[in-house]
Amino acid sequence: VTPKMLLNNPVSLVSKEMNTLAKNIVTLMGSGHPTLNRVTGYYFEAEGKKVRPLLVLLLSRALSEIPIENRDRVKVDFADVPEDPVYSKPPQSLLFQRPAKSISPLHILHGIKPLNPLTRGPEPLPEEFDKDRGILPKQRRLAEIVEMIHTASLLHDDVIDHSDTRRGRPSGNIAFTNKMAVLAGDFLLGRATVSISRLRNPEVVELVSNSIANLVEGEFMQLKNTAIDRDTATINNGAQRVPALSSKFDNPVHDYRVPTTHNGSQITHETMIETAFEYYLHKTYLKTAALISKSCRAAAILSGARDSVVEDCYEFGKNLGICFQLVDDMLDFTVTSKDLGKPAGADLELGIATAPVLYAWKEDPSLGPLIQRNFSQPGDVQRTAEAVMNYNGVGKTRDLAHEYRDRALQNLRQSLPESDARSALEFLTNSILTRKK
Ligand code: FPP
Ligand code: MG
Ligand code: MG
Repeated sequence: VTPKMLLNNPVSLVSKEMNTLAKNIVTLMGSGHPTLNRVTGYYFEAEGKKVRPLLVLLLSRALSEIPIENRDRVKVDFADVPEDPVYSKPPQSLLFQRPAKSISPLHILHGIKPLNPLTRGPEPLPEEFDKDRGILPKQRRLAEIVEMIHTASLLHDDVIDHSDTRRGRPSGNIAFTNKMAVLAGDFLLGRATVSISRLRNPEVVELVSNSIANLVEGEFMQLKNTAIDRDTATINNGAQRVPALSSKFDNPVHDYRVPTTHNGSQITHETMIETAFEYYLHKTYLKTAALISKSCRAAAILSGARDSVVEDCYEFGKNLGICFQLVDDMLDFTVTSKDLGKPAGADLELGIATAPVLYAWKEDPSLGPLIQRNFSQPGDVQRTAEAVMNYNGVGKTRDLAHEYRDRALQNLRQSLPESDARSALEFLTNSILTRKK
């Protein structure tokens, strides 16, 4: 691969794996229920960025360039992924048999033979594993799992955020209803869990499972109850919500509920900001970076890499993930919904204060109460957006993203030998800062 090709397309190094990824995922998700197949497959039909699997695959290739004598030989996991189990059978009654043509359009789209509804599922696709390419079968499966978990979280996220578009199309909640979107996300997660366990590597199972929990923790940390009345069932029979949740502005999971005094003395504005950033970055790690960093770590473990390399791969994913979300939070202020393919300016509307707002708050302490009340009063959103402009919140967020980018690059250079795959990873890391959507 020439450097020029690489620059144009870092995907080219793993294009074979990327091409079969969607098909393999459809196979892993296949159920006996055509409608469920449609909903679970919906976000895979539109071309997503697929950053996470791309990273796992490129990192796996880069790791394969470490000479085997520099790895823990017994730990290199060359094993194939065990064959798929028969997950579930629909009822045997003739009434429930569907003609093949009613099977999900996805299968037509991806040129996969319709499932036999009675036995559930086609044979697993043959593993086109080519030893020379260096990517292990389990690392390929890991890439698929990561995309499945990510997609499950998007289905749920769009319900939580009341989004109406994703990837330039109606989001799952709009196209299929909240209920189906939630169930499809759960189903995807269930299947992803089956696939994780089939990696037969307890450390990797633990890591990837934990990253699912982290996603939820991160999402919980930014939960806002501004729309709580729209979200929940009507309370009948005198039943009551847990008292702490009943008042609109008394939310125990409030982001920036920092005490105003400490040991009897007033907490400075500076300390407030520091604490808010700490909270924000931790939330960002959980929400966005945990899945990437833990799957990078898992890819390194499967390759039998030594501890320091495993650590660097983890740190790489973490720094890159945080950089990625910082840019995401920046784009929310700078790009139109049309260009983004999803609602822009959504964070303020949702009551979420991200880095650009925290930087503005640092300069203008009077924004504190607006943040505290989730921008819920008329004019709050507008005033905060203006403060972000005036205090260059976006530019400062970009600078912070640069810092994380630099750390990520250092992690790569520290532990991985020079190779095309490493260059592609560096290219990808740099391109996060220039992305427009
Ligand atoms: C997108 O963030 C959402 C996430 C990165 C994670 C969402 C996690 C959950 C909903 C928890 C449930 C998790 C699973 C695995 C089912 P965003 O809303 O900032 O980005 P967006 O602009 O793309 O919507
Ligand atoms: Mg969202
Ligand atoms: Mg969200």
